[in-house]
Amino acid sequence: MKPVILVTRRLPDAVEERLRRDYDARLNPEDVLYSPDELIERAKDVDAILPCHTEKFSAEVIARLPARVRAIANFSVGYDHVDIQAAKARGLIVTNTPEVLSDATAELTIMLMLGAARRASEGERLVRTRAWKDWNPRFMLGTQVTGKRLGILGFGRIGQVVARRARGFDMEIHYHDVRKMAPEQEGGAIFHPTPEELMPHCDFLTLHCVSSPETLRLLNAERIALLPDGAIVINASRGAVVDDEALIAALKSGKLTAAGLDVYTNEPDIHPEYRELPNVFLMPHIASATKETRDAMGFRALDNLDAIFAGREPRDRVA
Ligand code: DGY
Repeated sequence: MKPVILVTRRLPDAVEERLRRDYDARLNPEDVLYSPDELIERAKDVDAILPCHTEKFSAEVIARLPARVRAIANFSVGYDHVDIQAAKARGLIVTNTPEVLSDATAELTIMLMLGAARRASEGERLVRTRAWKDWNPRFMLGTQVTGKRLGILGFGRIGQVVARRARGFDMEIHYHDVRKMAPEQEGGAIFHPTPEELMPHCDFLTLHCVSSPETLRLLNAERIALLPDGAIVINASRGAVVDDEALIAALKSGKLTAAGLDVYTNEPDIHPEYRELPNVFLMPHIASATKETRDAMGFRALDNLDAIFAGREPRDRVA
């Protein structure tokens, strides 16, 4: 008998093909977003769940999962949508999909940085709405990226790839993480032992830390105040690491020149003021959305399930 897997969202064709081949897969061809009650109902008689970050596994949901469910194999590197303590207490195995999305996420981070700095959102709107009437030497002046200082908060796999790409713009890389990295990982980047010490060195600040109770609203009014005037903030990690009110106030006051955001608190119903601000470049949580990466994320989640059902330790176990 093949293990039964509940797959909460429609996945890439190649991933669903492998799922059907190796498992008794309960797929979601209509890609309906399941409520917690539906999720629990559909988890009856399944051995594992393959969800995305769109499904929330709170302590309450985990407590109501049928006893047969052994594992949650996430189709995501982030796992802040799963209450890890509750999962551990229940003996659930939880896995994620690191590494395979670092390149795609770094690409989008660079796009956010350039888009925010060079006013991509405003420029595109001008052209699309036929509001572009003229050219003059002072028209649409932006911020040059080349040679500036880039601060990376969270210097894990994604942060390190961002650093490598940013060196193509001759940027000077500064970072903070909970520990100083080995020289080969640093590649010349300058370590700062606290976020507060990093802030004054950031013409651009990009956030790549995990979302956890410790990083909740890490970028708040006090830390924004420590950034150089006119800095630009990028976030492609999770919305929860930013205090929206503080960021919006700084974008309005001119303390910050611009921001580039891919992630938000309460997606897709984001803070309404972001939509009104001209100096934010907004993307809809698509950092890992390339065909290659989404296939790789699915295969990585399946590799983890294969290990679990073969009685081996899954490579990407987080609980
Ligand atoms: C991730 O993998 O965490 C992305 O944000 C998509 O869920």
